[in-house]
Amino acid sequence: MNILVTGGAGYIGSVVAERLLESGHTPIIYDDLSKGHREAVLPGAALVTGDLTDARKLEECLRTNRVEAVIHLAASSLVGESMSIPSRYFRNNTVAGIELLDTMLACGVMRIVFSSTAAVYGEPETTPIIEDSVQRPTNPYGESKLAFEKVLRWYDVAYGMKYASLRYFNAAGATARLGEHHDPETHLIPIVLNCALGARPEVAVFGDDYPTPDGTCIRDYIHVADLANAHILALGALDGGSRIYNLGNGNGYSVSEVIEAARRITGQKIAARVAPRRPGDPAVLVASSDLIKRALRWDPKHSELDAIIESAWQWHRAHPRGYES
Ligand code: UFG
Repeated sequence: MNILVTGGAGYIGSVVAERLLESGHTPIIYDDLSKGHREAVLPGAALVTGDLTDARKLEECLRTNRVEAVIHLAASSLVGESMSIPSRYFRNNTVAGIELLDTMLACGVMRIVFSSTAAVYGEPETTPIIEDSVQRPTNPYGESKLAFEKVLRWYDVAYGMKYASLRYFNAAGATARLGEHHDPETHLIPIVLNCALGARPEVAVFGDDYPTPDGTCIRDYIHVADLANAHILALGALDGGSRIYNLGNGNGYSVSEVIEAARRITGQKIAARVAPRRPGDPAVLVASSDLIKRALRWDPKHSELDAIIESAWQWHRAHPRGYES
């Protein structure tokens, strides 16, 4: 199938495109390269540099490439930034998404897999979180993604457009060729590994007074390759109807546990300093992914935190400055 991957030059999108290639599909990457990297587009995947709100360019891209489905990952995705610049999040994640859907409709492309987030739940009342848990985002990032999920639902009702919304928990790890490189880097695992490489002096632990056993936030880290596999499965099942699935591995690890694991794996000291809480951070986010395991036989292969960090460490050692472009 010819599949448009928006944000396909980014961390998760590039691995999704890699899996599409391995599964015999043809990914067409649509990315404005504001965050993505040209080097993360593998041979075999076409790259179209463009903005989702450029309807003419997007329409031409969908038509000339005979696109049959879209995997939509392009987004602004920093919880902290969203608290200070909410407009960027509603514009890029909600409004631009609507532009994409309207262009898809104009071209008769009626299937979409959407990259949603655990941030739609906010501070959960119970864990692990299931898909029906209360959705009350604690930051504009989660709110902007939840708003787009609602748009998807109504486009299905109105036009019969089929969607799968995948609520990612914390994507982490790397494949042999593709890894995580943001500029600036704000994510815990790459920051910790940059400390191990000597590229940063220390990691700031954002709060040690949360209601968790060691006082630091707990997250559910899922290997990016397992995440990518779920997209292939969700895509294949779209004709059966629209669905929403959590994607996590069901194990929560605290910030302190992640730093400790990275010290063990890298053999480096990794200095850590407690800093104030980061606004918008829920204390605990841990998924139940039973639904997608049952419905699509999704079978994560790398659920151990050590294996996830080890894969990221290998990539970071091979690319100490990340992608060059
Ligand atoms: N953290 C630190 N120090 C840092 C960076 C992060 O203590 O320098 C902490 C954060 O406060 C948080 C945890 O490490 O408790 C993980 O933070 P990340 O920034 O790595 O990831 P987030 O949990 O903020 O967000 C990620 C994705 C979102 C997604 C969310 C869902 O970026 O897109 O996971 O859980 F919504």
